[in-house]
Amino acid sequence: MTRPVDERGAWFDDVSASFAGSAAFATAIVEGEPGMGKSTLLDAATRTARREGLLVLEARCSELESTYDYALARQLLDLARLEAPTTKEYQAQGPGCEHGPSTGPRLDRPGDSGKAASPLEVLHSVDGLHTEISRLAVWRPVLVAVDDLQWCDAPSASALVYLARRTVPGRILLLGGTLPHTTRHETTVADDLMAEPTTRVLHLRPLPAESVSRLVQ
Ligand SMILES: Nc1ncnc2c1ncn2[C@@H]1O[C@H](COP(=O)(O)OP(=O)(O)OP(=O)(O)O)[C@@H](O)[C@H]1O
Ligand SMILES: [Mg+2]
Repeated sequence: MTRPVDERGAWFDDVSASFAGSAAFATAIVEGEPGMGKSTLLDAATRTARREGLLVLEARCSELESTYDYALARQLLDLARLEAPTTKEYQAQGPGCEHGPSTGPRLDRPGDSGKAASPLEVLHSVDGLHTEISRLAVWRPVLVAVDDLQWCDAPSASALVYLARRTVPGRILLLGGTLPHTTRHETTVADDLMAEPTTRVLHLRPLPAESVSRLVQ
């Protein structure tokens, strides 16, 4: 049987391969009970991603904000916009960027007049987050890392699931951490993400006594 420490290492190696584009998945979730090491694994993965040159958009859902619509999407879009304007390459990017990063992407939906979407429109569309991240990913591979998904607000959850179906190894990647689902949590976003056939899921189990004693020595 695979040991828990090996499982963590294998998940980490697979995720690193996905950053490099040499894995068949680009969405990965780590699930476990409180204190099992989810945030520690996510932190290690985001450090690796930064070292590999990925742009990392890192956010954490919180219980206090779980009833605020678009709380998580807003965090991610704010980070995306902070990153975007600093480079000439981004400004020179294709047609989606002709209005500059601060005005948001075109959504090209039926009835869209062709005007650039306002930040509010971006927030209130299920594809707004994906569109914004796709624009960044033309310039540089993007990793979206979201911890504590159990507290994700409902509209952001829809946007994340939409994004998860459009991740691309080596280009647009999504990592998440979550507690196991209970009735206390309003959202099923982590379950929805884990149900995607290409998501790499790690269900954390407690470390065995021998590993714990090795850690504390
Ligand atoms: N592989 C590891 N080696 C050493 N210490 C670890 C390891 N993984 C986790 N820890 C330690 O265990 C504690 C809990 O880890 P962490 O915060 O990552 O858990 P968590 O699953 O995110 O918890 P929560 O559900 O409360 O958010 C931390 O003090 C962390 O430093
Ligand atoms: Mg944590």
